[in-house]
This record gives sequence, structure tokens and C-alpha cells, in this order.
Amino acid sequence: MLDFFLADKDKAATPIWLVRAEELEGWCSAHAGAGAAWVETNGFKGEAGKVLLLPDASGAVSGVLLGTGDGSDPLITGALASALPPGEYRLAGGFDGEPTLAALGYALGTYRFTRYSGKPRDWPRLVLPQGVDGEEVGRLARAVFLARDLINTPASDMSPADLAEAARRVAEAHGAAIDTIVGDELLAQNYPMVHAVGRAAAVEPRLIDIRWGREDAPRVTLVGKGVCFDTGGLDLKPSSAMGLMKKDMGGAAATLALAQLLMEAGLDIRLRLLIPAVENSVSGNAFRPGDVLQSRKGLTVEIGNTDAEGRLILADALTEADSESPDLLIDMATLTGAARVALGPDLPPFYTHDDNFARDLAGVAEATADPLWRMPLWKPYDNWLDSKIADVSHISDGPFAGSVTAALFLARFVEKARVHAHFDIYGWVPKPRPGRPVGGEAQAIRALFQLIRRRYG
Ligand code: BES
Ligand code: MN
Ligand code: ZN
Repeated sequence: MLDFFLADKDKAATPIWLVRAEELEGWCSAHAGAGAAWVETNGFKGEAGKVLLLPDASGAVSGVLLGTGDGSDPLITGALASALPPGEYRLAGGFDGEPTLAALGYALGTYRFTRYSGKPRDWPRLVLPQGVDGEEVGRLARAVFLARDLINTPASDMSPADLAEAARRVAEAHGAAIDTIVGDELLAQNYPMVHAVGRAAAVEPRLIDIRWGREDAPRVTLVGKGVCFDTGGLDLKPSSAMGLMKKDMGGAAATLALAQLLMEAGLDIRLRLLIPAVENSVSGNAFRPGDVLQSRKGLTVEIGNTDAEGRLILADALTEADSESPDLLIDMATLTGAARVALGPDLPPFYTHDDNFARDLAGVAEATADPLWRMPLWKPYDNWLDSKIADVSHISDGPFAGSVTAALFLARFVEKARVHAHFDIYGWVPKPRPGRPVGGEAQAIRALFQLIRRRYG
């Protein structure tokens, strides 16, 4: 369990009241006198994420008000950790939110990226709300923190080799097997597009392959885009677009964190995680616009733009994943700017042909406060990927539906998986919210964990 949680429910701990703006008046009548006056004095209105410390006569904190605004954010407790003085706290009686999410929100609010500056702090302690499994909250928070750390680490310390090392640590901690195919060996073992995208970089491209679990258990396979830095390649990005591209391994970070969750939960599944890890760089041997690449599947792929590199490395990894006919095949990738244009940074689209899966996922996304939105694999756009000289083009030549056409491209490499779902995540929080500081973010993994546990638990 995380060390800032207290299991002891009898502890005399300072109460924290969560109040919606419209409930504030009621709280003030119930706490007429100093409490209500202090609220007035401070102009506290119950705004979402606002914290008001209530003093006693000696100047110590006797209670805390946390504004929840319209009450729509179950992770609002993420505002507490950095606002509270050292001490022991509990959610006051009358708290009627989802207690596991409240505890998780608190935990997520303790995240700091301290690799280069600052150091881990001692956080105020929170008594775990009734009925909350502290181990579970700890597992979820540590998985999110793992992904955030990996994404926040700049490419100078998160090369394909570093990413493979991070994957090895996770694999070894859980007794999983890990195999890595590096550099020219990718050609020998028929991963031509992973090689083509990554060959211009100083650090060799590689395919990370983790396997865990009983061999004849249902196969769940994850594939994560591990572009450790995306310059755009010869179709170089402008600096405004390149600035954040250390996060282009966000899919790899998310799938690695999800794999960690699944292994720690000890599910009876045959888990496989494939991460093509490359840097999309510029050099004399870089792949070019107009090139035709051989893919692992055998399809020839015409390159329209070297900045659409993610789908190429995913296609080879998906081909390998699909060859085992997994029961569930999930890929996650910071794949398109178009996904962000459509839904913004906080609501990742996902694509699947399976209506049941989509319905179940929408349900758990809501329940876990890990929002996701289904978008269509719109068949009529599939011929936008037609090429005059190759089996397929990896991009369409128009400006429309970029996230959809990327998903349609990936779908061409999946035939045998019973269920396939593709997640076009942003992997980054540009505007902070409680529990979600600016920086790398592990989108979709808590919802997926819940869904996989329900299906295979
Ligand atoms: N990694 C980017 C997509 C991206 C950009 C994700 C910004 C999140 C934020 C991807 O490799 C890319 O460059 N995609 C291009 C594709 C285009 C050339 C068809 C894009 O979306 O512009
Ligand atoms: Mn790109
Ligand atoms: Zn990219």
C-alpha cells in the first residue's frame, strides 16, 4: 500500500468535507458559527478543486473543505495532497462519492516527476475510506506513475534502448519472459517497417516482446507505439510540433503500465506485450516519401509522409500479434494530431469492430473516470488508402478524418484476433486538473484493466 494511506479507521484524523457549490449553504447551516464565518471571510464558493483549511481557536487545522464544483469529477481529491499541511486526514462522514476513485484521486495528486530536480516528499496522510482496497489503489497509482515517468523522461534518457531496459525491469519484477530484436536482426526476422522507420537514428530500432502467464490461458496481446522521439523524419516537423515529441512513446508507456497491472493482479491470461521502439530521425539512410516498404505481412506500403511513422511500426507488430489469433488484441498509440483535433487531449478515441467490446468499454470508462470515446472504422474511407504503385498507401492524400484513416490502415494488418481495439491517445496533460498534473499521462489503462479483469478475472 502507498505509505500515505492509513488503514486505521479509528484514528483521530482531521475531517475533509467535499462540498458541491450548491451544497455549500447547507454545510454552512450545519456548521453555523466559526466554520460558516470562515467560509464567508475567505469567499470560498465550493469551486472545483479549491481547498479551504478551517482553523481551530489555537490556529491548528480542525477541518478542511474541498470544493467539488458541480460534483462531476470523481478524481477531484487529487487537489488535496499538495494543499494540505502535514497531518492525518479522513473524508468526513456524509461523503457519498465513489470511495475508491476518491482514494485514487488523492494518490494521483502526489505524483511529481523528480528525476532531474526536486525530490520525493512526505505527503499528508489519508485514512482509507471504508471499503477501499488500499492495495488495489496502490497498484493503479503505481502503474499510472510508471507511465508518467516514462513519458516525462526526455528522449536523451529514453532512447529505444532505455525503453527496452524499462520494459525489462517490469518483466523481471513479474517473472515474465522478455526478448528484444535489435537493429539489423529486425530485417533477418522480418520486421522491415520497424527497421525502416528506426534505421536513421543513432540508437538502433528494436522490437520488445514480453510474454507472461499460463500458455493455454486466453491470449491478451498489447501493442504500444514506442517512438522515443518523432522528428517527423525527412518530412521534418516544424519546431512547434516537434517540441513535445518525447511523448511519442506514450502508447508504449501505457501498454507497459497496463501489462504491469495485469501481472500484479495475477489474472489467468496469456499476456503478450509488443513494443516497436524506434526514433523517427533524419540521416542519409532515412526512409523517404515515395519509398515503397515491404511489410511483415507481405503487403507493400507506399510512403506518403515520413511523419506518419507510428502506423508503420505498429503494422509489423500487429501482424506478429495477430498471427497467434489472440482473444483480445489492443494497440495504443499517440498516432495522430487529428485525434486531438476531433476530441481534444483528454478524451482518447478508440476503434473496434466489436460492438459488445465497445459497449463494455464505454461502461468501465465511465465507472473508472478514465474517459474514452468510440469512433468509427468507416468502411467507405478505406479506399482513401489505395496506392497506384503498392498494395496500400499508409496515409490518405486529403486532410480529412486522419485518425479514422490511421485506424483503417492498422485494421488491414489484423485478421485473426477475435477482438481488436485501437486507441489513439494523446498521452499528455496540457492543462492541469486535480490529480492530473501537466505532463505525461496514462490514458485508457484503468478502464482497460477493469474490462480485462471482468472478462478474464
Ligand atoms: N506522433 C504523431 C502524432 C501526434 C502529433 C500525436 C501531435 C499527438 C500530438 C504522428 O507520428 C504524426 O506525426 N502523425 C501525423 C500524420 C500525418 C503526417 C498523416 C499527423 O497527425 O500530423
Ligand atoms: Mn510522426
Ligand atoms: Zn509519431
